[in-house]
Amino acid sequence: MNKAAVVCGLGTWVPPYALTNDELATLVDTSDAWIRSRTGIGRRHIADASTATSDLAVEAGGRALKSASGPGGRDVDAVIVATTTPDHPCPATAPLVAARLGLGTVAAFDVAAVCTGFLYGLATGAGLIAAGTAARVLVIGAETFSRILDPADRAARAIFGDGAGAVVLRAGDPAEPGALGTFDLGSDGNGSDLITVRTGGSRHPHPTAGDTADPYFRMNGKAVFRGAVERMTESSRRVLAGRRPDLVVAHQANLRILHAVADRLGVDRADCYVNLDRVGNTAAASIPLALGDAGRDGALVPGRQVLLTAFGGGLTWGATTLTWPDIEPA
Ligand code: UT7
Repeated sequence: MNKAAVVCGLGTWVPPYALTNDELATLVDTSDAWIRSRTGIGRRHIADASTATSDLAVEAGGRALKSASGPGGRDVDAVIVATTTPDHPCPATAPLVAARLGLGTVAAFDVAAVCTGFLYGLATGAGLIAAGTAARVLVIGAETFSRILDPADRAARAIFGDGAGAVVLRAGDPAEPGALGTFDLGSDGNGSDLITVRTGGSRHPHPTAGDTADPYFRMNGKAVFRGAVERMTESSRRVLAGRRPDLVVAHQANLRILHAVADRLGVDRADCYVNLDRVGNTAAASIPLALGDAGRDGALVPGRQVLLTAFGGGLTWGATTLTWPDIEPA
């Protein structure tokens, strides 16, 4: 029975404009030296005012479908969009994306797990395939995080950027390259106040005149930093079960976090893939964007054993493994 989920296509997209650290330093009180030494980030892409998350998702999703090889081509039975920054609170972003990609009346829904969203989306897509509900699933991580940042929050503006990445999953054999391994997923809602956007939901629906409710994204950076290192390490250990990965493709939160996770896993820092210097932390888009860059620059070649892991708001975390397949990122 072909019930494993196999990665058979990969596409990415970032909006063209890149905000460098030096330019950010003209907007808030910061410096290239501070940002590089505390985060490893050199620039991040920012969507223009007319671009929403679905626009980025359509670009990345279309590229992933193009990259998907073999029989099936552009056909998928489901579209999952992992995002923290949907176009609207209602409806979900995925149906808009499916329609714009011309995918017909397929199942389409969003997954909200903040920076762990793409991994939760992959696990959900793999579940649809294992249940026989879908044979091919497009899983997209897409964010316009710049939209929810406080213009005066220099720490958040230093880190976060916009972008999208997507994979096509198809039903296949668990032993073939590209087959997703066991997932470890977790959450701890007791830490829900560490990463928040407090308004826009049922607790604080509409900021009105005189309302002091905070409309912006907020993060307790230090507590999140510690949680990210601990949870990604534990989750990774569970899926690795003693194996050593050739390449770690972790959520691009902060270079110091990536190095701390690599050190705890006993993996050379050089085997922990980094593209946050070029794109920053793009939340749910982070892992597929990193996979795309790693595929293009030769860090990912067919046969390499890859560990994926992420941590984010919720709190949420997760990990999985795969053997890299023979695909061309688009
Ligand atoms: O994506 C998943 C979840 N997110 C993460 O995993 C991010 C985790 N956290 C982090 O990456 C780091 O905590 C930050 C990069 C957000 C902050 O770095 P930090 O080393 O934890 O700095 P801090 O918040 O403790 O601040 C240290 C100092 C403060 O100044 P004082 O109070 O010591 O005078 C901040 O005001 O650094 C200051 N600071 C800055 N200075 C220059 C904070 N941001 C900036 C900035 N430029 N951009």
